[in-house]
Amino acid sequence: MKKYQLYATMGAGFESVVNKELQSMGYKTKVENGRVFFEGTQEDIVKVNLWSRTADRIKILLKEFKATDFSTLFDEVYAYDWAELLPVDAKFPVQGRAVKSKLHSEPDVQSIVKKAIVNKMIDQYHRRGFLPETGNEYPLDIHIYKNLARLSLDTTGASLFKRGYRIEHGGAPMKENFAASLLKLTPYNGTHPLIDPMTGSGTLAIEAALIAKNIAPGTWRKFAFDGFDWFNTNLHKEALAKAKAEVKSLEAPIWASDIDQSVLEIAKLNAHNAGVLQDIRFKQVAVKDFTTDLENGIIIANPPYGKRLKDRESAEELYKQMGEALRPLDSFSQYYLTADPNFEKYFGAKATKKRKLFNGNLRVDFYQYWANRR
Ligand SMILES: C[S@@+](CC[C@H](N)C(=O)[O-])C[C@H]1O[C@@H](n2cnc3c(N)ncnc32)[C@H](O)[C@@H]1O
Repeated sequence: MKKYQLYATMGAGFESVVNKELQSMGYKTKVENGRVFFEGTQEDIVKVNLWSRTADRIKILLKEFKATDFSTLFDEVYAYDWAELLPVDAKFPVQGRAVKSKLHSEPDVQSIVKKAIVNKMIDQYHRRGFLPETGNEYPLDIHIYKNLARLSLDTTGASLFKRGYRIEHGGAPMKENFAASLLKLTPYNGTHPLIDPMTGSGTLAIEAALIAKNIAPGTWRKFAFDGFDWFNTNLHKEALAKAKAEVKSLEAPIWASDIDQSVLEIAKLNAHNAGVLQDIRFKQVAVKDFTTDLENGIIIANPPYGKRLKDRESAEELYKQMGEALRPLDSFSQYYLTADPNFEKYFGAKATKKRKLFNGNLRVDFYQYWANRR
């Protein structure tokens, strides 16, 4: 079976999380900034898209070459066998990025690449003048870093964080793969209780339930590869059927609470869509009143963070309440994500470990308090 050079892309700072996930799936990997490379067949492309909880996209590396001028860029792209990859009616948007390179104008890089592909296809398909681009989409991208150009085909389509279980609403929910990555930074594997006392739209609790029940995060969606005419579409059907047969039942409870009943309703709808409504216990309660009889689990939360002074003051008051209510639950390992640099001061305890992360463009810290297990 044909092997492809593949790589996963991810948010800044999550390379090691994605790397570990790919290694646990059995791949030999190589890590770079923003990318983890591995090799695989079409079956692997399906498997990783369906099962990766942490990556953004899975791409096929088509070609890699040095380019410091536009004519080299054009010639190298033209030299690729495009008719083997793209049917005559393919829609093929090209995204361009150029960083620390002689060729730095992204729109120019992108349009030269597009032109080289169009010219080659016109020659290969003996067309006159233009290509219809009315067929399925083959998302391409050119990325030039320090004059090394990489030409790739995206097999994912809409980013993997779009699992498809979440309804849109006005809040600021965490991306699904970001939530799963945070869970992967904890020892959570479904065998101990998990609590999110500020659950919002429920992303952390739902992703935890998916992990605990071994539900594939890509169960509800389609991928770009579904539209590639050379791709064996049976592979997706087979992988999905196998994944459905491997779903487990929940071993340890998952609790999700919030002060706001209206967000809990959204969280419940999302959990319903993900097939885990019965697995998560939702409760309206303010964190200051939070109590539990459970022990030896994980508390994880993304409390509000105030940008304006007034909001900051109320966030800090909340961190104080969190400290008073949650710190005594010391058989739980506790994990809090916030952009507030003074979190520890208000929470009332220094974290065992602090990890710097980016939530989109926002610089945040993941404060980790390890448990005294009973
Ligand atoms: C940043 S959001 C959490 C977003 C969530 N991780 C998600 O993916 O949707 C913070 C949540 O904390 C809740 N919250 C604020 N004050 C609270 C309090 N005193 N007790 C419990 N929850 C509170 C808010 O209602 C909001 O849903």
